[in-house]
Amino acid sequence: MTKEKMASYLWGLPEQFAAILPQGVQLPPSYKREYRHILVSGLGGSAIGGDVLRTYAQTQAAIPVVVNRDYDLPAFIGDQSLVLVVSYSGNTEETLGAYRQAREKGATLIVVTSGGKLADWARDDNVAVVIIPGGLSPRAATGYLFTPLALILQDLGIMKGAEEDIKEVIEVLQAMRQAIGPDTPWEGNTARQIARDLKGRLPLIWGSTGHSEIAALRWKTQINENAKCPVFYNLFPELNHNEIVGFEVPEEILSYIVVVMLRDPEDHIQVKKRMDISKQIIQDKVAKIVEVDSQGQGFLARFYSLAYLGDYVSFYLAEEYGINPTPVASIDFLKSELNR
Ligand code: F6R
Repeated sequence: MTKEKMASYLWGLPEQFAAILPQGVQLPPSYKREYRHILVSGLGGSAIGGDVLRTYAQTQAAIPVVVNRDYDLPAFIGDQSLVLVVSYSGNTEETLGAYRQAREKGATLIVVTSGGKLADWARDDNVAVVIIPGGLSPRAATGYLFTPLALILQDLGIMKGAEEDIKEVIEVLQAMRQAIGPDTPWEGNTARQIARDLKGRLPLIWGSTGHSEIAALRWKTQINENAKCPVFYNLFPELNHNEIVGFEVPEEILSYIVVVMLRDPEDHIQVKKRMDISKQIIQDKVAKIVEVDSQGQGFLARFYSLAYLGDYVSFYLAEEYGINPTPVASIDFLKSELNR
């Protein structure tokens, strides 16, 4: 995938949600039963949809959603568990291992993939499988990967209104791309401006637990994978109990740091105050503090508005560094070495 393809994915993200919505997800009647919990198993670009589902479900669902990024599943998985196995390629070894374990433990499984071994195994084992369009980098397929997860919870009666929430995501992102897309020059383009602020510096992304939490993680992973540079993230209120103390020395390193604060109207009132006070503590120490606000009404629209801005920032930062955002040579090398 070339740089242009990554650009067209970014532009086309709202249409990924729109492509999955009409077909919906209808699970066989045997799936409609009580579960104790839901576990989403995946890695990297395929796992983050699970994180979004976890925080989205916390706003409404009566049972917890947990995310697993490993070969092994936790001991509590058993015949009362619903396990959603997600791998864009369908060939990620940790995820294949988790699939096998979930079967052995008697869990109910649903697979979301574009193909690979996972699709074959699911068909052979009579496991429900949602096939999504292939051919993208997994991190570029976030709309295809997340939408089925939300619709599965809606079909099972665990979440209400997922379809409406996703329609709002589409509207908000379609409006946003006019302002931050490639046709909007630097002067009026927040994403390009932030990318320039981050160039040659060390970004720290600060979000808030349960609100902008996964957006902060997405900013981090997208800047890592697209712009190929180091970036770290942390969350309020926890960071006020450790990281905030680390802005005293060494001055030279601090002078390279740009803190990006992701703000959401639903942040706890004390977290809002904590963000303001934290700004006071660090403002004379770091190169810059950038603040961004979420847009939209529902949880999903607010999350994706922050994530979409971060996606564009990472793309423009790659441009600033003269780098093709698409290849992930270190991930490919690791996968090929492990397969030898
Ligand atoms: C590459 C990317 C990676 C992959 C991860 C797992 O764009 O985002 O983080 O998502 O290596 O691969 P899949 O998603 O195929 O299971």
